Amino acid sequence: MSKQKESWGSRMGLILAMAGNAVGLGNFLRFPVQAVQNGGGAFILPYLICFLLMGIPLLFVEWSLGRYGGKLGNHSTPYILDSITKKAVWKYVGVFGIFTNIAVVAYYTYIESWTFVYVFHTLFGTFTEMNQAEISTYFNDYVGLKGTLFGMNFLPILAYVAILGLNVYILSTGLGGIEKVAKIGMPLLILFGIILAYRGWTMGDDFASEAFPDANAWDGINFLWTPQYSSLADPKVWLAAAGQIFFTLSVGMGSIQCYASYMRENEDIALNSITAGFTNEFVEVILGSAIVIPIAAGFLGLDWVMENAGFGMAFQTMPYLFQQWGAVFGVIAGVCWFGLLFFAGITSSLAMGTPWMGFMHDEFGWGKIKGALSFGALALVMGLPTVLFYQYGYFDEYDYWAGTVSLVVFALLEIILFAWVFGMEKGWEEITRGADIRIPLIYKFIIKYITPVLLLMVFIGALFTPQGNDWAGALSGLFEGNGWTLDNSSLIAKITLGDLKAQLALNPDDSVFIEDKMFYTQMARSQMIILFVFISIIVWFSTKKRKLEGRL
Ligand code: TRP
Ligand code: TRP
Repeated sequence: MSKQKESWGSRMGLILAMAGNAVGLGNFLRFPVQAVQNGGGAFILPYLICFLLMGIPLLFVEWSLGRYGGKLGNHSTPYILDSITKKAVWKYVGVFGIFTNIAVVAYYTYIESWTFVYVFHTLFGTFTEMNQAEISTYFNDYVGLKGTLFGMNFLPILAYVAILGLNVYILSTGLGGIEKVAKIGMPLLILFGIILAYRGWTMGDDFASEAFPDANAWDGINFLWTPQYSSLADPKVWLAAAGQIFFTLSVGMGSIQCYASYMRENEDIALNSITAGFTNEFVEVILGSAIVIPIAAGFLGLDWVMENAGFGMAFQTMPYLFQQWGAVFGVIAGVCWFGLLFFAGITSSLAMGTPWMGFMHDEFGWGKIKGALSFGALALVMGLPTVLFYQYGYFDEYDYWAGTVSLVVFALLEIILFAWVFGMEKGWEEITRGADIRIPLIYKFIIKYITPVLLLMVFIGALFTPQGNDWAGALSGLFEGNGWTLDNSSLIAKITLGDLKAQLALNPDDSVFIEDKMFYTQMARSQMIILFVFISIIVWFSTKKRKLEGRL
């Protein structure tokens, strides 16, 4: 086992890498969609509260867990959690912190590859001669792999493999490579973001057209920033807000713990974690909210935005809208947009590679090249089907289980471990050791009581979402003895494919497609289960190895 200690080159490097981990496609693609679908101003308030009461506490906890484990030579969650308590089960809880990363990177790098390809389409003017419908069709054909060579388009597959390869290459150069990409990517991303956000903030109704006479970018901004207090009583909005906070801050995933495990023993956590967290929030709520929504509202009106929230806005609509700004600025805007997405994406996908590599290094002495290549192979096995069967919901299935549910489950378990098993006295000491700022003492209380309770509520809320999301009605119905009818979006109904079965009942004409979808959904789940079991077996094996070597 090689014993030389790897660590971050500088404090700036650590912060930028951590911010790069958090700032990702989630900030620019997921956030606007969530905000629009959950009522704009109705979303923001629960979102900010979730940031303060779940996001920040979890950042403190995960940075501390990571630094603590790293001191003992553990760089991924199975043994980071094991260094807190020796109960074997926690090692397997820690499997989540490797699993999530591999399952998410599988589809995440696919989106990343779209952004890369779209930078070049913008530069080479692919879209200049196309009208909006054609640009839209182009995207659908791309993800549908429609093409002429043997009836298929191989470019999306090649681009995916190439981008995954680029990630593997950078990972094989170690933390230094990750730091370098963050130092270049983060400033550029923020610069590109500011250019576009400036357009978003200043276009007003200048681009209203005959077809959309009422279009006004300010409607988009007001929609987001006019708080609606009624939403505070709507569990659905809270669930979405919590889910977004988790995804965007990268908490509950295992990648922060891994990054933090390469810190020095007494390096500050308080200020560094807050800086990285607030950078992410700045990019998300200031830049992320000032681009797609206002720009699309400025051309097409807010109603259109509300009806079309989704990937479509980013890849089908934006390239068309940019052109309306003229040949030169149109290209600049397009390059800024897809370039920004690319840098946001790659600094996050790199973070997803590190837990697996750290684990294989700690336990089996695998070097960077072997670690990076094996990570790439796993990601490819998981990811190719998401490329091939994109329209059948493979991607969504991964995103739901690995990119949403797992985060909440893992975060809940790890905060219980930290605050209740490790104990909040020791925990607080860990968080504040070497701190460059004073964290308000109230956070000791929040971490121990508030965050776990909120996490539990989020989880239960997702498990048992009642029909139509009508909690008040469902609860009073329950007391009147009418039982509880689950919504098809509830976790339990998802398990039994309730949503797809309902679709099938409604659209018998589409039965072939929906039945295919069911099949691929089950395939995607099988792949995730196999991956989880596979990592668990390796963890089990590593334990035997540690015992043999007397390292337990
Ligand atoms: N936070 C990133 C985003 O906003 C996503 C991300 C980073 C992630 N690291 C992760 C997702 C690890 C899963 C696992 O896009
Ligand atoms: N799938 C959503 C859409 O249609 C957004 C989304 C969900 C997303 N998970 C994501 C975007 C992960 C980026 C990364 O737009």
